[in-house]
Amino acid sequence: MNIPDIAKNGSPKSLMTLHEDPRKLHIGTLPDHAYFIPFAKGQNAFAEREQSARFELLNGEWGFTYYDSIIDMPDDFIARESAEKLPVPSNWQLHGYDKAQYTNVCYPIPFDPPYVPDDIPVGVYRRGYTFKPDGMRKILCFEGVDSCFYLYINGQFAGYSQVSHHTSEFDITDLLTEGENSIAAAVLKWCDGTYLEDQDKFRLSGIFRDVYVLSRPGKRLENYRITSGSDGKFCLSVQGTDVKLRLYDGDTLICEGEVTDGGTFEHTVDNVKLWSAESPYLYRLEIETDSELIGERAGFRNVEITDGVFRLNGKHIKLFGVNRHDSYPDTGYYADRAKMRRDLTLMKRHNINAVRTSHYPNAPEFYAMCDELGLYVIDEADLESHGCVNVYNDLKWSWADGYNGIALIAKDPQFKEAILDRERLLVTRDINRPCVIFWSLGNESGYGENLREGAKLIKSLDSTRPVHYESTHKLDDTSDDVLDMVSEMYTSPDDIRKFLAREDEKRPFVLCEYCHAMGNGPGDLEDYHNLFMESDRIIGGLVWEWADHAVILGKTDDGRVKYGYGGDSGERHNDGNFCMDALCYPDRMPHTGLLEVKQVYRPVRVAKCDEPGKFTINSLLRFIDAGEYLDCRWEMTCDGGRAGEGSFAFSVPPVGTAEITIPEAAGTFDKDVYIRFIFSAKNSYGAFADGEEVCFDQLKIFTAERQAAPVCETAPTVTVTPLGYRITAGNAGYVFDRRTARFTGISVNGSNILGKPLEYNFFRAPVDNDTMKNDWYQAHLNDYIVKVYDTAISEENNCAVIRVKQSFGWSIHQPFARLTAEYRIDGNGVLDISCSAEFSNKVEFLPRFGLRLFVPKTFADVEYYGYGEYESYTDKHRASYIGNFTAKIADIHEDYIRPQENGSHYGCTRMTLLGEKTALTFTNPDGFSFSASEYTQEELAAKRHNFELEKCEYNVICADFAMAGVGSNACGPQLAGKYRIKLPEVSGKITITPKG
Ligand code: GAL
Ligand code: MG
Repeated sequence: MNIPDIAKNGSPKSLMTLHEDPRKLHIGTLPDHAYFIPFAKGQNAFAEREQSARFELLNGEWGFTYYDSIIDMPDDFIARESAEKLPVPSNWQLHGYDKAQYTNVCYPIPFDPPYVPDDIPVGVYRRGYTFKPDGMRKILCFEGVDSCFYLYINGQFAGYSQVSHHTSEFDITDLLTEGENSIAAAVLKWCDGTYLEDQDKFRLSGIFRDVYVLSRPGKRLENYRITSGSDGKFCLSVQGTDVKLRLYDGDTLICEGEVTDGGTFEHTVDNVKLWSAESPYLYRLEIETDSELIGERAGFRNVEITDGVFRLNGKHIKLFGVNRHDSYPDTGYYADRAKMRRDLTLMKRHNINAVRTSHYPNAPEFYAMCDELGLYVIDEADLESHGCVNVYNDLKWSWADGYNGIALIAKDPQFKEAILDRERLLVTRDINRPCVIFWSLGNESGYGENLREGAKLIKSLDSTRPVHYESTHKLDDTSDDVLDMVSEMYTSPDDIRKFLAREDEKRPFVLCEYCHAMGNGPGDLEDYHNLFMESDRIIGGLVWEWADHAVILGKTDDGRVKYGYGGDSGERHNDGNFCMDALCYPDRMPHTGLLEVKQVYRPVRVAKCDEPGKFTINSLLRFIDAGEYLDCRWEMTCDGGRAGEGSFAFSVPPVGTAEITIPEAAGTFDKDVYIRFIFSAKNSYGAFADGEEVCFDQLKIFTAERQAAPVCETAPTVTVTPLGYRITAGNAGYVFDRRTARFTGISVNGSNILGKPLEYNFFRAPVDNDTMKNDWYQAHLNDYIVKVYDTAISEENNCAVIRVKQSFGWSIHQPFARLTAEYRIDGNGVLDISCSAEFSNKVEFLPRFGLRLFVPKTFADVEYYGYGEYESYTDKHRASYIGNFTAKIADIHEDYIRPQENGSHYGCTRMTLLGEKTALTFTNPDGFSFSASEYTQEELAAKRHNFELEKCEYNVICADFAMAGVGSNACGPQLAGKYRIKLPEVSGKITITPKG
């Protein structure tokens, strides 16, 4: 090996200048190539790589010395013993060194390329390596190091590399001596590459992916390229040496041959079985050289864009995807195989068919798993320079005229080679993976000459896949015609429709990020889905994002993990909880948002035909018959009670329709009737277990006529006191306070249910998508002063009727709401509430309008008929269905790490709050939402973390006439009008029936 000149003079430290030179990217590294691991002949080359006799994993405890600043690192740092130990792979910030910093757009360092701060934190890693000369070259491979590293073998400089998410290989043989050797790597937290790695994530450092040594012959297979299209044509071209190859379908040999160095083998497979996410069929390929055996899996498939439509194997497919980061609270950027598999199978088990590796290439084994499990991958280069947008713009920065500043680096010649390097690395490593359907130039780096050249480079390396890129803001007129599709993020459905209508744009459209899944949300999945289905020009969308990013702060006394986010490590700049914006909690427990995704992305949908009892099953699958992989059973319910059930077999061609008849569903009924079709997996569908539920569809098939409530024969007893009314009826009693126009007591058999007076409620603990929450605080929706204009009581139709006029407000403005209410109590003690409020112009968006009750803890359970069992809102209820449910109040709480409104149930017509001896039933045939929580909304709004929450001394019950949707406005469009509470006039009705 040639030791670069740089190593020949000067002290090791004085030679460390490469990290501020964007033209010096990799020194002493071997040429990049497609990922593969050689095995010895006679081995099973399809086994896990650790089984290979040629593979030596160097993961484990390494010696470690951390320096806060490279300036304090002694000149002879390589010769020194390590101060401590650190696991490899890991990120040192998660092991007590330095701080985890969460920043989104903003650079973590002053923008001064190619320079980085003088005080660069450094981790010096060391370990021993025993070398026994065996005639093989020893190739040391690092699959990921953030941000760059200098490598030393036995104290001698062996090379330098950067680009955090790529493999650097060094042939270290000539630096080794027989017996014990030392490997040392000085890893720097920042380098000129930091300007190109400004992804929205915790900024962590270190050797964060596997490190291993490969033993390989000097003359060896350097690289190879497989192409295998939907026409069955298979090609293998090789570089470095001559090979023999054998292609198998299962265990059946289909062809074999020999290829000489530089040559190509070709064969056409008859009746080829194609690869797709639905049917990820892989052939086995063995490549054999003089001394090595390589096991490959080849998938036959084609991707193309024709007539503005994206197609796989000739058919238009839709991406129902997610964006995924490598991010784990315990191991940071390190995803071992088990973690990757868990993520990917969990995706498949939620009907997700695509993943974008936001915003850098994942570990090589990730792609092999996507090939095997069937996931379409948008493979993204390790590139983001988002922070330029802040740099470029002055302090009066605004999105409207300033966003083009993001393109500062995209057009900066000093970064051209570095950007091309990142594009080249992406394609070179992953080119043989059938799961990769698009190359993505990177994320949020603006557009300019460097990106255009990057796209051209990719096309020159691989003409078989389209190029994706979203960030086309630019500071000059560089054409983006090299991009094969138009990609956007968070565009509203209306704006996408406008795009589709454009005459001048014929490329297909992909929403590379949408439905920002932060906190309680997203609420707009179904609307986007319907839009995706409107046009074949829409490739689909990928939800932002897969899993919350978090750091572990410790444990609570009862053993729960305390998760932290931006700011919790004492970072100087941080972006708070914007990293908790995903479908899974950090430990991969699904948020309710993921359950929504599972339903919206379902492979089949059932629709009602005009003729009673007839339905159609519409398949969204493109390649397989849904009936071969799904069983269907149905259940019919009358007001929640079981009214019939059955199951049937079906067959439905890809993208086709099957008609089915359920005679039981054709009758007339005296109640509301729903039918629910539940599909479960069979024949190993996706990554589901056989029998596991894949999805369901619920349809209302009969609406009963409303019955008027019977008039009560007896009237209640009314006592009027100077400031109140007392009403008794049956075993119920009500106390109404005229000064505040509230019920201060509701009792059954003499025991009061209300811990505090019954009150009107206009506020919810803001969800992350409630970006307008400051307006609520300004209007004092959460904390108001009541003015009572009038209260009166009368007896009408055997009822005591209280009528009230009042308003709610605060200082400074007019009252935010004026309300008239009527409370009607009949002789059985049933209370009918109807009210109507008019809101002032200070309320543009109302989160909720309803009643709040504080009840003793003995009221610990609820029983309801409405959307359950998951939390449900007007725009987020697809994972739930209408039914009869029971729940413990303690279990309803959805434990978002940053506490917020949660656990509401939408579309209820009945909810009973169950105490030990008494019960309160709330009804409204037109529907209402309720929530029942151990926490007050004030508590949820006040605390930064779930583990800080303190329970209320009462259980808090909200019966909401109206509850706004949750949307995805944290990053996405404003909540659609149809999911808002329509203002300024809002009315409400509810009936409360106490029972003893
Ligand atoms: C996008 C970006 C993502 C993430 C998201 C907000 O603009 O591409 O990386 O920052 O916004 O959560
Ligand atoms: Mg960004």
